[in-house]
Order: sequence, then C-alpha cells, then structure tokens
Amino acid sequence: MVNMSTSGAPVIPFSRPYLTPSEIPNVTAVLESDHSHGDGRFTASASARLVALTGAPKALLTTSGTHALDLAARLLDLGPGDEVIMPSFTFSSGATSIVSTGATPVFVDVDARTGNIDPARIADALTPQTKAISVMHYGGVPVDMAPVLSLAREAGVPVIEDNAHGLAVSTALGTLGTLGSLAIQSFHDTKNVHCGEGGALLINDESLAERAEIIREKGTNRSRFLRGQVDKYTWVDQGSSYLPAEINAAVLDSQLEHFDEIQAKRFGVWNRYASELSDWASRNEVTLMDPPGGVHAAHVFYLHTPTAASQQGLLAYLREKGIIATFHYVPLHSSPAGQKFGRTTGDLVHTDSFASRLVRVPLWTGLTPAEIDRIVDAITAFRVTA
Ligand SMILES: Cc1ncc(COP(=O)(O)O)c(C=O)c1O
Repeated sequence: MVNMSTSGAPVIPFSRPYLTPSEIPNVTAVLESDHSHGDGRFTASASARLVALTGAPKALLTTSGTHALDLAARLLDLGPGDEVIMPSFTFSSGATSIVSTGATPVFVDVDARTGNIDPARIADALTPQTKAISVMHYGGVPVDMAPVLSLAREAGVPVIEDNAHGLAVSTALGTLGTLGSLAIQSFHDTKNVHCGEGGALLINDESLAERAEIIREKGTNRSRFLRGQVDKYTWVDQGSSYLPAEINAAVLDSQLEHFDEIQAKRFGVWNRYASELSDWASRNEVTLMDPPGGVHAAHVFYLHTPTAASQQGLLAYLREKGIIATFHYVPLHSSPAGQKFGRTTGDLVHTDSFASRLVRVPLWTGLTPAEIDRIVDAITAFRVTA
C-alpha cells in the first residue's frame, strides 16, 4: 500500500528492503524440508559467501548485529572494572554489549569529516583498565585503522569492528571486518543485505574461533559434535542461543548471492545524489558526505546543514513533500543510559556537531530514477536559513 503525504504525493520511504528472485524459493525449500532450525545448509552457504566476500577466516551467523556484539563482548571476557573505548556517535548496541558484561564504555570524540572514532582521542583515553577498542565504520566509510591498530598493539588489547554498515568494503589495509580481532555485520532489513533480523560475527583471531562457536550454541560443544569431533555434546562454557533459524539464513543466502547487483544499484543512487546536490549544497553552506578516497558502502547518503535548526527545517520540509529523510544517532554520551553506564574522555564537540546537523536521505536498492528526481528536485528547491 502506498502512503500519501499531506501534499498528496506518494510517500518515498527512507528505506525499503530489496527482494531478489531467490528468497521465496529458498524459504519454501526450508519450510518443506525437515530442517528449519539453525546451522543447516543455508547457514553453511551464507557463511561461506561471507568468508568469500570479506576474506575473514571464519564467519558465524547470529540472530542480529546486536547479538554478534554481545557474543564478542562475552568472548573477550569483559567484566566489571574493565573499560572499552568507543565512539559516542554510534548505535546503542555497541554500548549495551559492553554494559551487559559489567564493563564500562568510554566514549570519545569522532573525526569531523567522517563521524568515525578519532584515533588521537583513543590515545588520550587508554588506561590500565582498557580491555578493548571498539570502532564503527559509519556508512561503511573506513575508520583510520592504521593508528587504531598500532595503539591497540601497544596496549595489548583487541579491536572490535562494528561493520554493520560496511560489508565487503575494501581498503588499502584490507577488507573492513578483517582488520580487528573480531568484527560484526548486521542484516537488519535497513541494511544493504538483509534477512529481516540477522547478523554475523567475523573471527579474525583464530584462537577465539572454537569458544565463539560454544558461546553461540548455548555454551555447548555442539559444533564439534556436528563435525564428528566428539561423540556427544555437553555444556562446557557460558553461552546463549545466538544462531538464526534456517528461514532467515535462506533469505540472507539469496541476498548475498545478489550482492554485486545490490551494490551496483545503491552506488547508482549515491552517485546521483553526490553530483546533483553539489551546486545546491555549495550555495546553501551545506556539506555533502565526502568519504576520504571515495571509499564507502553506499549504505547511507547524508549531508550536513549549517546548524541544528536548519537540520530540523529540512527534515520537516521534506516530510511535508512526502520524502522521509532522517537524522542519525543521538550521541550515546548524551543519552540517559550513556550517562548512567558510561563515561567520557575529552570533549565531544565533533560528535555533537556531526549528529545535530546530519540529514540522511532515502537510499535503497529499488529507488527508481523518477523517485530520485523527485528527491533531488525537492532538496534543491529548499533554501537553507540559519
Ligand atoms: C552501527 C550499528 N551497529 C549495530 C547495529 C545493530 O544491528 P542489529 O539491528 O542487526 O541488531 C546497528 C543497527 O542499526 C548499527 O547501525
């Protein structure tokens, strides 16, 4: 059903999941089989596709990106008294995974251009209690990883990459998701590749692989049993149930099979915004997303208005025109739970400025050229006032 805006035009949603030709046959095959619980043939196939796409040595599917972060925090044995340095400009799950172990998230400022954690601020925040550094590649734009990895090496702590936005983005250092000891992906239906709700843990430090399987499988060594390495499985460690049903894996497998086609369509939309909004942006003191080296995942297209008031003005104007644009991430250090459970090091001026002026415009795989025309025409007719 198409919703209509107050101006009478059909609403263009902010995001709409993409359907390839194979999700429905795949799901039907699962439902007609005797195996719709986890770790069946579609989980195996989707995991193999993730390994091939990223080059990570091992990929475990999870029920969400959030659960992959929880699994990572448990795997690293975080606990009370431990600190994890992370950006404030990110999704709540990066912090809830830490807090659920009793450890403390330490929020630091971001780089003004990318919204990614600023490595210089990590250096300021390191203490003997630091047990990990958690980074998030916003929009699949790579964090400046060389200094992050060298700080982590010096401190002897692992790096977790929250790569929810940046599946298979390649950089000079390697593919995103393969640079830290652990990385997570999200397959929520707002992501480039989705299965409704889903995620994955990429394991680059192979010494963590076997325990990751155990924690994911209710604390048991069932994965070893399924490989024929033990003759019965038993409870051996802490754990929970982090594995998705085959129904989700069947959808994910189809999406991953069509990854190149999905990315080509999304880059087509992103490139139109970048070229067609550029004159308007410079006339209105607006800055468009400008990834260093042009490297990104075509996950989001955002712009920054000159002030927080003009952000609100542009969002309300677009809504009136039936175009759903949106802000992103109320910074965690200023959220009620962030103030209760976390602490900050240094000021977070770039974080506040980045979040309070950011406008994300619709970007999804099936956006038509006519819909993009409508969005571009609406934005370029808007005059930014402070
Ligand atoms: C950066 C980031 N990390 C983690 C998540 C959590 O992923 P999920 O929704 O799959 O739990 C999100 C969700 O949007 C996110 O944006």
